[in-house]
Amino acid sequence: MRAIVVRPPKPGVELIDCPAPSRAAGPVRVTVLECGVCGTDRDIVNGKYGKPPEGSPFLILGHENLGVVHAVDPSTAGFVPGDLVVATVRRGCGRCRFCSANRSDFCETGGFTECGINGAHGYMTEEYVESPEYLVKVPRPLRSVAVLLEPMSVVEKAIFQGQRVLDRKEPTPGHPRTEAPSALIAGTGAIGMLAALVLAMRGYRVAAIDRHGGDTPGVPLLARLGARHVNVATGFDALDGARFDLVIEATGSVSADFSLIDHLGPNGVIVLTGIPDEREPPATVPGGQLFRDIVLGNQAIVGSVNANRTYFESGLRDMTVAEERWPGALESMITSRLPLDAAPEVFGSPRRGGVKTVLRVRPTDAGPVP
Ligand code: BGC
Repeated sequence: MRAIVVRPPKPGVELIDCPAPSRAAGPVRVTVLECGVCGTDRDIVNGKYGKPPEGSPFLILGHENLGVVHAVDPSTAGFVPGDLVVATVRRGCGRCRFCSANRSDFCETGGFTECGINGAHGYMTEEYVESPEYLVKVPRPLRSVAVLLEPMSVVEKAIFQGQRVLDRKEPTPGHPRTEAPSALIAGTGAIGMLAALVLAMRGYRVAAIDRHGGDTPGVPLLARLGARHVNVATGFDALDGARFDLVIEATGSVSADFSLIDHLGPNGVIVLTGIPDEREPPATVPGGQLFRDIVLGNQAIVGSVNANRTYFESGLRDMTVAEERWPGALESMITSRLPLDAAPEVFGSPRRGGVKTVLRVRPTDAGPVP
C-alpha cells in the first residue's frame, strides 16, 4: 500500500510502497479516506519531533484521520463494514492510573505512543488495523467534515480545561453575570477556528488574532460566527488593551505566549495548545511582574495536549450542532483537498495561507469497500 513516511530526526518526507498491516494486528480493518495535515506533521517532517515505532526504519505520518470499516473479526461487536470511523491518537503506557482508565491524554509516565507522531504508525496510508476501543464511530451526515474531528477533540479538551478554571467564578448566588464571558483566540489555523466556533456556540464574545489582513481565509467564517478578527502583525496594541476571561493559544510561539498573558483578565485562564520549538532561544521575561500579576489576579496558565475518547465524542456532538447552526462552516475550514501522492509537495513548500489541507486517500467511500 502507498504510505507517506518520515525518518526522524532526518528531515524530509517520502511516498513509499509498504506491506499492508497483518490481520492479526487487530480485529477491525479500516480503509483510510482522508488525513489532515497539521503543524505537528510539519515539525516531524522538519526533523523537530516524532519517532518511528520500535524496530521500524520509518514512521507512517498523519494523525488527523477519517476511514471506513472494511472488515471486522466475527468475535468483535459494535462495528460493521461501511461504518465511518476516526481513530484516537494516543495509546496508553499500560502502567499509570490515567492510561488504565482510558485517559492516556493525562499519562503520567510518558510511556505512551501517538499514532503518526511518536512510536506508532499513522494514517497517511491506505489501510490500518485497530481495536474497537480506539475507534470512534462517525454519523454519516458528518462524512464531509469528520476529518476535522481529531483537531476538534484537542479543542474540546482545551476548552474544558479552561472552563474548569473559570467555573471557580460561577455561580455567585444572587449576583448573576450581566454580560457574556469573553474569549481571545490566538491563531486562525484549524485549532483556532474550531475553538472560535465552539466558544461562539457556548455564548462567548470571541475575538481571534493572527498576523494576517482581512483577506485571510478564516475571516469570513469568523464574521459568520459573530467573532472579531484582529491583525496583530504590527503588535498586540491592535487589541487596545482588551482583557479576556479565557485565552486559547494555538500558535506555538513563545513570544505570543508572553504577549497573551498581558491580555488575560482578572480571574482568567490562558490555555496553551501550541507546542513551541524547544530549540527557541531563551527569552528574557520580567518574572517579578509576571508572577505578581498572576497571583494578584487569581489567574491560571494551563497546558493542554491530546484528547481522550470523551472529547472525540463531545466533538461529534458539537460538530452536529454547528452543522445545524452554521451550515457549511466546518466544510469551509477545509481549504484544500489534495491526493495522498501530493504530500511530498505539500510538505516541501511553505505553509499556504489556508486553514486546513486534507489529503484524500480514497476518492469516495460509496460502493463496496475493497
Ligand atoms: C496532536 C495530539 C498530540 C500532540 C502532541 C497534536 O498535533 O493533535 O494528538 O498529542 O500533537 O504530540
